[in-house]
Amino acid sequence: MTKPFIEHLAACAALAPSADNTQPWQMRWTGDALELHYVSRHPSTNVFDADSHGTLLAIGALAENIDMTLAANGVQGKWEWSRPGKQPYGCLDLPHDLPENFTIPPGLEARHTNRLPYRTDALEPGLRDKVAAARQGQQRMVVLQGNAARKALVRLVELSSQARFCNRDLHRWLFGSLRETPQEVASGDGLDVATLGLPPGGKTMLNFMSNWKRMAKLNRFGAYKFLAKTETGLISAAPALLCVVGSGKERNAIDAGRLLTRVWTQLNEHGAAVQPYYVVTDQVNRLHTGKLAPGFEDKIGAVEQELHRLLGLAQGEMLHMILRVGYPTKAPARSHRLPLSQVFVSEL
Ligand SMILES: Cc1cc2nc3c(=O)[nH]c(=O)nc-3n(C[C@H](O)[C@H](O)[C@H](O)COP(=O)(O)O)c2cc1C
Repeated sequence: MTKPFIEHLAACAALAPSADNTQPWQMRWTGDALELHYVSRHPSTNVFDADSHGTLLAIGALAENIDMTLAANGVQGKWEWSRPGKQPYGCLDLPHDLPENFTIPPGLEARHTNRLPYRTDALEPGLRDKVAAARQGQQRMVVLQGNAARKALVRLVELSSQARFCNRDLHRWLFGSLRETPQEVASGDGLDVATLGLPPGGKTMLNFMSNWKRMAKLNRFGAYKFLAKTETGLISAAPALLCVVGSGKERNAIDAGRLLTRVWTQLNEHGAAVQPYYVVTDQVNRLHTGKLAPGFEDKIGAVEQELHRLLGLAQGEMLHMILRVGYPTKAPARSHRLPLSQVFVSEL
């Protein structure tokens, strides 16, 4: 029989963030160890395979939630990580004398995405400095200082969003991820439309955009530029912009996902609101894998060069994620999770 501690641990881990709430993981309990595996949940629309950067960030987030939970319960585990291309990603050996009682770390339940507007006051300097100093392996944080640097980063978000709105695969993925009816939302994965903080008319606009042929026709008249501009409204008003950066080699993105999740959890625990922006990283990765929308190669190449200058990246380093941070005006709708039976199995 699986010990209740392991099931509680898996449930805490599953609160981790993932791109479009895909939850591309399965935890398997072998009796001695917890293995982290990849699962492609909606293969017909999915754009992230097992070793793609977006998936590795999510796996890092899962591992970080596990470690925060173990720490809160005074349990020491030992991770063993596999080489790129191998499954499981990692395996956590746990002691046999697990505690009877279980403590849920409050930070795990506090962490969430807030896509609403934030207050304009600055982030409390002590909190800003604490997260700016956070590190994980070869991953670190960069806090954008000064209006010129922040404006330059927002421009990179805009250019990357333009490329995204012209990308058929990303269009299919986004509309495959949206959940609107109560039954769809209750399925527990994907993006509940209520969490998007859409303005009045936003849902109608989304429905209108959902047809790719129509979207492609509108793009010929520059719709993608208009949509990208609207995407930058909130981020250009953000009191703070934080970036997770560091080595992009092999499975280093797992460490980036750990750092992202630790910092995000600390910010939320201290009352700050967070929204990640992945579009710049994703478009630069697509440039390298030949998956950009046709015609955007030069623009995204220039985005990558400017990123290196702006964030002071060394050779071999990359931007993993941008975080818009501030203090909330309202509590957002919270996303759901898949039932535990879909993300955790016991092989006993
Ligand atoms: C790799 C990755 C990419 C993400 N990209 C974005 C993004 O570009 N915009 C956004 O609003 N949220 C983004 N998110 C947040 C997820 O959509 C969010 O974590 C997920 O829906 C679960 O919601 P929660 O964070 O409230 O638990 C991203 C998260 C991850 C891990």
